[in-house]
Amino acid sequence: MQRRSFIAGLGSAFLLPGLARAAAPLAAEPFGLGIASGRPQPQSVVLWTRLMADNPAERLGTAIKVGWSVAEDERMQKIVRSGEATAEPQWGHSVHVDVEGLKPRRPYWYRFTVQGKASPIGRTRTAPDPAERLATARFAFASCQMYEHGFYSAHRHMAGEDLDAVLFVGDYIYERSWGREHVRRHETGIPTSIEEFRDRYALYKFDPDLQAVHAAHPWIVTWDDHEVTNDYANDSSPDVRDPGLFLRIRAAAYQAFWEHMPLSNKVKPSGPSFRLYDRYRFGDLAEVFVLDDRQYRSPNACFPESYHNRYLVDCADRLDPARSMLGAEQEAWFADGMKRASARWNLVAQQTLMAQLDSGKDGKHRFWADGWDGYPMARQKLLDAVTASPTRDTLVLGGDVHSFWTADLKRDYAAARSLVVATEFVGGSITSQPQADKTSQERASRNPHIRYAKGGVNGYGVVTLDARHAAVTFRTVDKVKERSSPVSDLARFVVEAGQPGAQRA
Ligand SMILES: [Fe+2]
Repeated sequence: MQRRSFIAGLGSAFLLPGLARAAAPLAAEPFGLGIASGRPQPQSVVLWTRLMADNPAERLGTAIKVGWSVAEDERMQKIVRSGEATAEPQWGHSVHVDVEGLKPRRPYWYRFTVQGKASPIGRTRTAPDPAERLATARFAFASCQMYEHGFYSAHRHMAGEDLDAVLFVGDYIYERSWGREHVRRHETGIPTSIEEFRDRYALYKFDPDLQAVHAAHPWIVTWDDHEVTNDYANDSSPDVRDPGLFLRIRAAAYQAFWEHMPLSNKVKPSGPSFRLYDRYRFGDLAEVFVLDDRQYRSPNACFPESYHNRYLVDCADRLDPARSMLGAEQEAWFADGMKRASARWNLVAQQTLMAQLDSGKDGKHRFWADGWDGYPMARQKLLDAVTASPTRDTLVLGGDVHSFWTADLKRDYAAARSLVVATEFVGGSITSQPQADKTSQERASRNPHIRYAKGGVNGYGVVTLDARHAAVTFRTVDKVKERSSPVSDLARFVVEAGQPGAQRA
């Protein structure tokens, strides 16, 4: 199916929102949204696809059987697992297969079939055995792929990297149009129903570069705000003030997220609730904690004024120790996991910049309400759990701020002697309009624990671990507004084991 007819189909769906969509035949290319794998474990991975109707303005009707197979070779000669899954209408005809019984730390290739048609072949990789002594482990971390702001050359390049997994930390879709110099359009308005969210994911998923990176590596995913709506916090939204109505939108958004991600059948969303946070282990080198800082957080400090002026200046509420970013249950889970961690490195994959970033001038303090600076006591609690971990080295990986950052994480930024307890890297945005570099530099210069900042560019990060070092490289896209652009290295850092804090390499 041509991209143009897909987008035209979305347009007609938008023009007829009140009409039930007709049950349509399967598309000539039923796997037009691509294939994916994720949730790598030593013996299992999840495979994903979603069947397409002939016309995206219409919907497939009844449940459809889909075959899948997993092989040890790229030509799919040595099949080791195969079976049949059902694409059900109530889950948008998405397919999620929990493939069990695999061997640890090795590549596998996979393919789906439906009604005599085969998908492209994808490659995935199982995690190493938890006890295995690994020489290295390698992850890309990425976020913020606003469709209208650029093309996905970063993803095309990431597909060619040698990785154990991609860590995607949020803003996979954007619910609304914003920013300058759009290179393509959403075509439809702000989604609120399950059908509208499915269309938005389908539009993004139709991109060939995004499909390529999904077909090349297993993904470990979490979300940020734009998978639902800008700057939402738990059941409160800046736009929809009725929490009951907002939770119905959140339920549709969470369901569509599950339907389009390589997530397990064992963890499906239930109404507006979805347990997304998770922990992974990669041999003796890495314990990866994936956080959800949206679903359970307390409302913005000094709400609702902070929704108008997104910065907090004099807001005593900000320091209320009862305010939570992760919610009590996830906090306890994190603290327990940190206490029992036994790999060489802890990685914390989460949404946004964790280090304090005071943007006040002339002796005044000013903090971004929506990030960790709006929840400083929750940040202290999280860093206390990091400090209590027997694993001494923790890296925090983030996104959201559409710029690159390297920072020392301290429990208390007001105390000059507060120790560095972890090292933070924020990996830019895939396409989303970057923060102006002037702004990044100004803010970095007033916050001495910020070791590096770069705005005005797009890209992602790659972290390579061994027993003694963690090396992080920031990669940038030369021309995000062009369909195909080279990607080059922006900066490189090394963290020595036992010595938190990054050194420029
Ligand atoms: Fe973003």
